[in-house]
Parts: sequence; C-alpha cells; structure tokens
Amino acid sequence: MRYPTKVKLVDVGPRDGLQNEKQPVPAAVKIELVHRLQAAGLKEIEVTSFVSPKWVPQMGDNAEVMAGIRRQSGVRYSVLVPNMKGFEAALASKPDEIVVFGAASEAFSQRNINCSIAESIERFAPVVAAASEHGIHVRGAISVAVGCPYQGEVKPEGVELVARLMKEIGVQHCGVADTIGVGTPRKVQAAMEAALKHYALDDVSGHFHDTYGQALGNTLACLDMGIWQFDTSVAGLGGCPYAKGATGNVATEDVVFMLQGMGIATGIDLDRLIDAGKYISDFLGRKPNSRAATAILTKRSNEACAEPS
Ligand code: HMG
Ligand code: MG
Repeated sequence: MRYPTKVKLVDVGPRDGLQNEKQPVPAAVKIELVHRLQAAGLKEIEVTSFVSPKWVPQMGDNAEVMAGIRRQSGVRYSVLVPNMKGFEAALASKPDEIVVFGAASEAFSQRNINCSIAESIERFAPVVAAASEHGIHVRGAISVAVGCPYQGEVKPEGVELVARLMKEIGVQHCGVADTIGVGTPRKVQAAMEAALKHYALDDVSGHFHDTYGQALGNTLACLDMGIWQFDTSVAGLGGCPYAKGATGNVATEDVVFMLQGMGIATGIDLDRLIDAGKYISDFLGRKPNSRAATAILTKRSNEACAEPS
C-alpha cells in the first residue's frame, strides 16, 4: 500500500476554529471542548494563541484556558506564539509545543503579523532558541502556501524560502497551510515538495482550509506522497481574521471518516468526536460544518425515531 498506515491529526478547533468567532466563547466552553477532544482520542490539540488581544480578542483568555485544562498523559497541547512577548506569556502555561507562524507572501505577513517575512524570522529566532532551552517542541506554520488573499497565486518558491529560513533558525516541524482553501491537489503537492526540500517527510504536515471544498482531495494527495500529519478542526470550525472570506479547516470528522474507510489508523473514536463537534456547534448555534457528522447525526436521529417506544 502506498498510503501511510497511520495518521496523526492535530485538532486546531479550539484555536483556529474559535479565533474567528465574533460572539464571545467563555473559557469554560473552550476547556470543555478540549476535554471532549481528548476523550475522543485526539493526541494533539492546538489550544489557543498568545497573540495581541487587540488583534485577536477571542484568544484573550489564553492563560485561563490553558490553566483550566485537565491534562491527559500522552496528549500534546500546543499554542501559537508570534514573538518573545507571546513566548514569555505562554511559558507560564507550560505548553508542550509552540507554533511560530509565518507566511509565503509578504502581503499576508504584513496583514497577519505586521512585519515582513525577514522580520518575522528575526522575531522567531529568539523564540525558537528559548523554546529549545525549555525543552519545548517548535512547529512552524507557513500560511498562504498556495494562494494569498492580497497577492494572488503563491509559487512553491515562496514556500521553499520560508521553509529554509525556518529550518535555519531551528524550527523543528514545517506545517504547510492553505489559509484560503484555494489549493487543488497538484498545487498542494508542489507546495509540499518545496517544504520537503528542507524538512524530512516525518516533519511536514498539511493544514487545509476548506473554502472551495478541496481540503479532503488535498489531504489524499498528501497521503499519496507519504505525508501522515494534518491539522484538522472539529466541526469544520475555523478561519483567520486576516484572511477575509476564508472558511474553516477541513472537519476532523470528515478526515477521520475517510481514513477509517481506507483502513488507516488515527486512534480517534468517530462517535465521540462527533459528540464533541455537536457540543461546540450547539453552543455556537449552528450545525457542524462536516458532511460525515451531518450524515451520522441524521442516522442517529432516524434510528432513535424508529425505535419502538
Ligand atoms: P504589533 O502591533 O506589530 O506588535 O503586532 P508590537 O510589538 O508593536 O506591540 C504592539 C502592542 O501589542 C503592544 O501593546 C504590545 O505589548 C502588544 P500596547 O503597548 O499597544 O498596549 N503585543 C502583545 N500582546 C500580547 N501578546 C503578544 C504581543 N505582542 C505584542 N504576543 C503581533 C504584532 C504579532 C503581536 C500582532 O500582529 C498579532 O497579534 N497578530 C496576531 C495574528 C493572528 O493571531 N492571526 C491568526 C493566527 S495565524 C492563522 O490563523 C494561520 C494558521 O492557522 C495557518 C493558516 O491557516 O494559514 C496558523
Ligand atoms: Mg488556519
């Protein structure tokens, strides 16, 4: 079989999923979501970000959320950190992993983190060094890896440059992100190949927003290359406040359903995952943005109706 036999999913729902919500989501709800995700078997959860609360108010309760989580052994809790100020604040929360996030286009870098690509690397370098001193794993995310909302198409060379710069400062893992979901399989494979020039296959992952419905196809295209790590978001939550029109990440439920059907292990209990997605969707007052969750929830309610009373 050419596909990997197991896949690791990082659920980014509590962070990417909720950062874009306009309505306040109490810390207690975020904490409960993390608990439900770990109960469903997620081993990696992106919990929050230590960014400026003026830029992303929804993540302003970062320390409270991190402090409220009942940690389960074997689960890795990660947080986004854009600079030393964020790292210092995050440190007290004892994350297992931090994520520095750059971009493959200058325009997106400016809009998202208010600096050029070169300046972002200068900001990340001391963060990576400090994380290493504290034994904290560092993942890097490269946004707009195939298309930028401000600059248009992004060439693989843009990804390769940032991957090289991140590698040079000691970032241990390279996440390739299609922020606005415009990627299609061949383009995504080219972006991945660019990252693979500087990172080993085991140190690369995909992060696909599903704006144009391409994320599952893109995930399959990566599996075909042997890539076995992906960021996904429960109930398809997500979006970036600085990428207008971009919708959520591919739903964790849809990816798990596909992988189960392909005989690829994830360690995730789909039914409990669907319950976690329903929990947060109920809170937000909408249906889970996942085809698999919708189908299974409908089946459940039909079965409940059919049961003799
Ligand atoms: P800046 O304004 O250039 O920063 O923002 P600054 O150093 O000039 O400081 C300005 C103010 O921000 C100061 O406060 C600092 O203390 C404060 P003031 O004196 O005005 O009261 N500040 C901070 N406060 C809290 N935590 C910090 C921090 N740093 C400075 N870490 C900055 C630069 C990076 C902070 C800002 O641009 C920012 O917070 N951006 C956040 C962007 C963001 O979170 N975007 C969404 C996440 S990325 C994403 O979703 C993409 C991803 O999913 C992959 C994909 O799909 O592409 C990962
Ligand atoms: Mg994202």
